[in-house]
Amino acid sequence: MSIEISENYSLRPYNTFGIDVQARFFTRAYSHSDLNEAIAFAKSKNLEILVLGGGSNVLFTQDQNKVVVLNRLMGKQVEQENENNYFVGVGAGENWHEFVQTAIHNNWAGIENLSLIPGCVGAGPMQNIGAYGVELSDVLHSVEALNIHTNENHVFSLNECELGYRESIFKRKEKGNWIITKVNFELLKRPRFKVEYGAIQNELEKMNVDILSIEAVSQAVCQIRSSKLPDPKVLGNAGSFFKNPTITIAQYDQLKQIDEHVPFYPVSDLEVKVPAGYLIEKCGWKGKQIGSCGVHHLQALVLVNHGNAKGIELKNLSEEIIQSVHEKYAIKLEREVNLY
Ligand code: EPU
Repeated sequence: MSIEISENYSLRPYNTFGIDVQARFFTRAYSHSDLNEAIAFAKSKNLEILVLGGGSNVLFTQDQNKVVVLNRLMGKQVEQENENNYFVGVGAGENWHEFVQTAIHNNWAGIENLSLIPGCVGAGPMQNIGAYGVELSDVLHSVEALNIHTNENHVFSLNECELGYRESIFKRKEKGNWIITKVNFELLKRPRFKVEYGAIQNELEKMNVDILSIEAVSQAVCQIRSSKLPDPKVLGNAGSFFKNPTITIAQYDQLKQIDEHVPFYPVSDLEVKVPAGYLIEKCGWKGKQIGSCGVHHLQALVLVNHGNAKGIELKNLSEEIIQSVHEKYAIKLEREVNLY
């Protein structure tokens, strides 16, 4: 066996909430063969496998009686190109923002709005990461994955990934069955800028940008994100803790009777999305701290660990928030973060 396996290993450095739980077994995988070894080891111990990338969308509420595998499959290269596109293959263990920077450096357009999202490339399709008007589904070509039960390798086409708002087949009906090993992107040779999102326009103006470039858009996004979202290295968090609820127009009309100022974003002719951060703030949670848990003072959608919070305490806080938003607005918030 070539992988190194540690026993009763703290996962604190491997989740951005900084929750101190232990993995029964812990290993790092740098290749397909490491992954296959880790799978065989888990089978021999009759334990489940849990794959972590950046650990930026998980909340651990207990010790993990599992084989935790840190996915470190690397590599990023153009594999094909045509008149309009670069087809870029990226190892699931690559850091997302470093990949975005590589793309900008090489003039591969399409992911500049997704700058500074924490985590690894493999987590992107898991929850269809998105920000400032762009979602991974806009640039995804396919996803390569290894089946934990059969050791089969499969290439999921964009359609097969069943991507939705912070959703995918990997979070739903195929949950726990696959390890994402590589993500293939279809990036653009000529940028199609998406800067309608209000804050980006303002930021670009502040930066005195005359000629738009993917670099300028990336810089604007980095500036907005770092002004509002806490840096997990400084304050434990997992980005948006809840999803923005999608409701029908009829529900939105009712919501307006309770609060006429609730913002909305159209989703379709029948539905709108409302910012959960607004609802949470209006319920008085923004900036609140209970023990070591808190709601961020600049973005109410983000729960934070001020020090030694336990996962279960953060979960309890999230339940209180769900309940109070439900009482005031009759809307049931859903968590975006995965609980383990
Ligand atoms: N708002 C408040 N109070 C708050 C936070 C937000 O009133 O404390 C209201 C404001 O009206 C604001 C609106 O909510 O204009 C939207 O806020 P923001 O632009 O900060 O975005 P968001 O809806 O809170 C979503 C994503 C983020 C993504 C941003 C930017 C979800 C769950 N979250 O947040 O994604 O970065 O838009 O596109 O969809 C993540 O998924 O981890 C994440 C950070």
